Amino acid sequence: MPLLELKGIIKFFGKLAALENIDLQVNKGEILGIVGPNGSGKTTLINLISGYYRPTRGTIYFDGRKISGLRPDQIARLGIVRTFQSNVLFEGASVIESMMISSRLQYKTNEWQAFWETKAYKDEHEKIVGNALNTLRFVNIFNETFRPAAALPHGFQRMLGIGVALAANPSVLLIDEPTTGMNHEEAMGVVENIREINKQGVTVVLIEHNMRVLLNIATRVIVLNFGNKIADGDPHEMMSKPEVVEAYLGTETL
Ligand SMILES: Nc1ncnc2c1ncn2[C@@H]1O[C@H](COP(=O)(O)OP(=O)(O)OP(=O)(O)O)[C@@H](O)[C@H]1O
Ligand SMILES: [Mg+2]
Repeated sequence: MPLLELKGIIKFFGKLAALENIDLQVNKGEILGIVGPNGSGKTTLINLISGYYRPTRGTIYFDGRKISGLRPDQIARLGIVRTFQSNVLFEGASVIESMMISSRLQYKTNEWQAFWETKAYKDEHEKIVGNALNTLRFVNIFNETFRPAAALPHGFQRMLGIGVALAANPSVLLIDEPTTGMNHEEAMGVVENIREINKQGVTVVLIEHNMRVLLNIATRVIVLNFGNKIADGDPHEMMSKPEVVEAYLGTETL
């Protein structure tokens, strides 16, 4: 059984079909790359899986259970967590505060236990704060721990976006163009991080414009064009298909 399955997914915005009849299976442990020209429906796909949008038609299953129709926080609690294409910050929060907001999903102790500072709460809190700090070290922004997130340079904010997603302890991570606005070295750092996250057992769905990044890391690629899936398979094979090359004609990414 696939970990994640999309069956007959259609998404309309008014009269515009952003996605037309998408069938897609994501297997446990893979790094699935999603490519396609601007406006082809990539982000819409992530918005649907993570519950930010509801499909016009079709059903999404996670671990055999229907998740389309659930709210984003319910889906995140099940283990499917997304990052955003633009830098999304918690208003006024520092880097560590941003991490802790997302870490809330991990607490099993309740508000009363927190209020009375029971041992169970304190032990759990210590572990979760420790994990948050380790994650900041992992995404290379540990030195910025107490800075306001809004004051970070763009590349660091992208890394914080991944850190915040990891703080929710995902089993599936949906990442939307993590390397935008980064130089080659920074982008390769992100590639290494994603590879490591995947090695630790997280299934990854990655939207990425940068073909070098994608071919480097994806175990499978799907290609979207005008809301349709036009290719699905081995990354290097996909990129040599005439219809895929044509979808990219005039773009600098291939
Ligand atoms: N909330 C919305 N309301 C109306 N139209 C939308 C909305 N979100 C997306 N669209 C439209 O749906 C289509 C697909 O958009 P989407 O953002 O999924 O593309 P994308 O492949 O992520 O593009 P990009 O590479 O530019 O990020 C586009 O025509 C877009 O304008
Ligand atoms: Mg997009």
